[in-house]
Amino acid sequence: MNDTDSVDLPRRKLMLAGVGAAGAVVALAACGSSGAATGAGNPAGNSNNDAGAGPADGGDSSSGGSDGPAIKVSEIPSGGGMVFPGQNIVVTQPTAGNFKAFSATCTHQGCQVSKVQNGTIDCPCHGSQYSITDGSVKAGPAPRPLASKTVTVTGDTLTVS
Ligand code: FES
Repeated sequence: MNDTDSVDLPRRKLMLAGVGAAGAVVALAACGSSGAATGAGNPAGNSNNDAGAGPADGGDSSSGGSDGPAIKVSEIPSGGGMVFPGQNIVVTQPTAGNFKAFSATCTHQGCQVSKVQNGTIDCPCHGSQYSITDGSVKAGPAPRPLASKTVTVTGDTLTVS
């Protein structure tokens, strides 16, 4: 009998320990789940941010499409213009509502023009400047005007081809 009791005692201890362990597991699981929920909250926030960047990427890809980039009319300042490096084009608005587009490839040595200011489209490499009105050379060493492109206005969107 004593042997049996001595065997039973360790079993009871084990069972108690098991219950304790199970309780600990439950407690850990509870902590784990709340921790996971918190952890999931941050990645969700990050993924929301990524999702926010996603449409911008999509916008880039759609506007960067070689089929004919769509550009908002409001992006182009009146009396100025904007270079779209990804599409290698320059879109200008010499006078209100009058849009022009040109290749952004400088006719001197092929650099990409980088900015539009003071009525000219400027090349950063050797200082050539082109008219925002017709792409003609305003300052050398460029030998020829920028190549003209066709601008189509549809509502508030410009398409260059
Ligand atoms: Fe543009 Fe020389 S490549 S000025």
